[in-house]
Amino acid sequence: MANSVWVTWPALTKFGSLGVVAGLLVLASERESLFENNLFDFEKYDEYNTQIVCDERSLTARMEDGTCNILDNPAEGSVFRRFGRNVEFQSGFQETEDDTLLSPNPRDVSNSLMGRDEFKPATSVNFIAASWIQFMVHDWVSHGENDAENPIVVPLPAGDELGSGTLEIRRTQSDSTRTADEDGYPVSYRNANTHWWDGSQIYGSNKETSDSIRSFDGGRLKLNDNNTLPTEFMSGVPITGFNENWWVGLSMLHNVFVNEHNAIADMLVNNYPNQSDQWLFDKARLINAALMAKIHTVEWTPAIIANPVTEKAMYANWWGLLGDREGRDQIQALAENLAEDLDKTDSFVKRVLGFSPEFKDKLDDAAFIEHALGGLVGSREPDNAGTAYSLTEEFVSVYRMHPLLRDNIEVYDIGANMLSDSIAIEDTTEGDAEDVMASEGADRLWYSFGITHPGSLTLKNYPQFLRNLSVPLVGDIDLATIDIVRDRERGVPRYNEFRRQIGLNPINAFEDLTADAVLLAELKRLYDNDVEKIDALVGQLAETVRPEGFAFGETAFQIFIMNASRRLITDRFYTTDYTDEVYTAEGIDWVENNTMVDVIRRHNPSLAGSLVGVDNAFKPWGLNMPDDYDSWAGCEKEQHLWVNGAMRTEFAVDELPSLEKIDVLGLISRVLWDKVNDEKDVTPPGYTKPLHAHGVMAKVDFVAEEGSPYTGMFEGAGCGLLRLSVTGSPDDRGFAPGLAWKLFVDGKPSQNVSALYTLSGQGDNYDFFANEMSQYVSPELNETLGTSAIFSAVTSKPTRLMVNSMSEVKQSGDVVASAKAPTQIYFVPSEGVTGEFATSAHDFREDLISIPSGTKIYDVYATTKKIKYSIFNWLNSRYANERRSSAEKIGEIRLDSAFTASAFGDSGVFFKHQRYEDR
Ligand code: HEM
Repeated sequence: MANSVWVTWPALTKFGSLGVVAGLLVLASERESLFENNLFDFEKYDEYNTQIVCDERSLTARMEDGTCNILDNPAEGSVFRRFGRNVEFQSGFQETEDDTLLSPNPRDVSNSLMGRDEFKPATSVNFIAASWIQFMVHDWVSHGENDAENPIVVPLPAGDELGSGTLEIRRTQSDSTRTADEDGYPVSYRNANTHWWDGSQIYGSNKETSDSIRSFDGGRLKLNDNNTLPTEFMSGVPITGFNENWWVGLSMLHNVFVNEHNAIADMLVNNYPNQSDQWLFDKARLINAALMAKIHTVEWTPAIIANPVTEKAMYANWWGLLGDREGRDQIQALAENLAEDLDKTDSFVKRVLGFSPEFKDKLDDAAFIEHALGGLVGSREPDNAGTAYSLTEEFVSVYRMHPLLRDNIEVYDIGANMLSDSIAIEDTTEGDAEDVMASEGADRLWYSFGITHPGSLTLKNYPQFLRNLSVPLVGDIDLATIDIVRDRERGVPRYNEFRRQIGLNPINAFEDLTADAVLLAELKRLYDNDVEKIDALVGQLAETVRPEGFAFGETAFQIFIMNASRRLITDRFYTTDYTDEVYTAEGIDWVENNTMVDVIRRHNPSLAGSLVGVDNAFKPWGLNMPDDYDSWAGCEKEQHLWVNGAMRTEFAVDELPSLEKIDVLGLISRVLWDKVNDEKDVTPPGYTKPLHAHGVMAKVDFVAEEGSPYTGMFEGAGCGLLRLSVTGSPDDRGFAPGLAWKLFVDGKPSQNVSALYTLSGQGDNYDFFANEMSQYVSPELNETLGTSAIFSAVTSKPTRLMVNSMSEVKQSGDVVASAKAPTQIYFVPSEGVTGEFATSAHDFREDLISIPSGTKIYDVYATTKKIKYSIFNWLNSRYANERRSSAEKIGEIRLDSAFTASAFGDSGVFFKHQRYEDR
């Protein structure tokens, strides 16, 4: 594949932070030339401006129709103003039936290249990311209701599943403001939403809609008593700013951000009790809209284009605005780094960028560097780069991201990973969305979206339900065919010209796009072997060379980088007026201090456990170990590992992994050193348990016996994990049960101990509770595993674990002044589990999973008798018996949950061994 077609800046990231800086400079330079060369509009602002009066309120509030943001051009960015263009006018002319509108047949493109054959997930992000971007699109753009008259008629291609005949597509509503003197311009359409990033999907783009959602009390929006969205009587669709193309993903987002508005309004009432409803509403809208814009800039975008350069670019986009906030420090640090490098005679950045002619001078231009790196630092005045701000047709085009949609919503119970329900997305659309919210529960849906993936933006991944979608008052449509037709109808150039226009290299051959032989054959057939004919959307979905971490390709990104910045730097409320005076100090803090995780959690408190450690709500939720994990309270750690580790990766009973033979070689590895040296609760990446690979785990509570003399954790430990497993496959070397117990400590590493019956186990007795276990087992002559020999690589007493450190610290983290530890402890199966299970061959895990939470599982006994060794085995047995008979009960281990088998329990959780040497 000829890679030379594609941009080269992503490769710079491999050069560490200076490479990232160099990448940022390239992006900044690209954006600069896009601003210079790719902003076109022909709107009649003067005519509209004469009809607009910007009153006192508009100085510090967003107007419902988007007027008066730019006070000297008040119509700029307002509702019904035309979409601008990012391509020269001569490249932006509409295709019609008289020329190429139907060529190649768009339904054939939909059938052959778009329709999903199998679901291809985008695994770096979660499904919230998909609904989020539609939620944003509904803030930014809409071409309004299509025209019912004179549809575009598409002949059905041969072999179409709809048979022979035609498919009708309604035309985009034409621009009624066009006048004869504008004939030389390409086709134009008007935005039915305000162009601003102002939350208009919630607040609407006119006063009537805005009024319909307000409660006119305390600045709040209307909600039902149970905090759900009010709905339209007939359709059942929520009443909100923009409620088209509705489905449950939008219900979830509208629900939390309407609730967020009200939380902001309540905060403002507390701080400003004498202000009017209008004042409170206006401020709450400003704050809520800015919070959404920030979440999109510094959370959604870095998740979907997870590349160090773009992440920094997005941070600069947002925090460049602020001047004195924390986020800016990161940008400043980069700037300093760069300045130091540029001063050097062998400057790395000059070397890598100096090779391209456009950088030769720029690297000596302080103003360029400052602007590039600071993003928008210092540009506190709105700056539209000489062209009135509007979103563009090309912008709309690259956001046609329908392949992000899955076919089904998989619903899970909070914390769990067992599928509880699967709902076809078409059954969650329009009025059904709120029913699904009610029946499944918003919190379960958030959790489920958090752990599942959207579709990837590639060919043959367009959900079939959207290719056969029933739209109220319109009928059945094929949205994939429509997506293709819309670009042609609206004058968005075909792929190669699109790329040329926005400063990218055109492709030379179909092979530049993909190496997939089947796709290549289809592409060549449809497009007559002519790369110039490829549709913009098809080319974008076909791009297999993508900047690292990107969920979409560079063509879409180019439009992105320009418009993402423009949405912010042209807006008075994100530049001059992003101030304490206009937003209130509390309002600015609200925007800066809250994240999407905070918003979801605030309105779905039941998700608190699932969101622990999740720092980007759009990345798959899972077990994330936050930096400050070690400092947490013990019970929080237990809960985190349990909910986001064990439950999230639970195996269904009929899918338990098979018990494997022991990997003896694997034992003789660094892993053993980790086992004794590492203090972590979670294994390092790539770790597999060489012994005891499969088992079950439960949350447990250790209740100390009154008067027990031992200290520290032996005095009681409310939060622990108990894992029961067998050494290896019982068919292989007999049934050898073992346990590992972790006791969590506030702010300190956990305490751990493991125990066995004997090294070689209990033969063909498969009852897990047939024998008691201990952390010390006598060396056996008949030991078949060689385990003790292997462990002796790291300890002189391979069969003995110490519990001294358990006696030295309490659950509260307090250190015990004079610790008292036993030499040996015994885990004696309780009466509730003794004799309950079959001794014949079977899967012991199924027995354990059936034990209910609350069951007492072990009585724990302990002795202080010295452990003596002998070269004679019979003497060792005698010593062992003496110790055992001297042992006294010191407490009980009770289940705080049922046992579960999980991938986390099998390979994620880590139980440290305390060596004899480390006692
Ligand atoms: C179940 C979910 C969705 C449904 C039912 C849906 C449906 C539709 C429909 C009916 C249209 C108008 C087609 C026309 O021009 O006649 C449309 C347009 C569009 N959709 Fe979706 N969509 C969904 C999700 C998404 C998602 C996830 C995105 C991601 C960004 C998205 C982006 C767009 C864009 C950019 C347009 C063009 C808007 C315009 O022409 O002004 N949609 N969608």
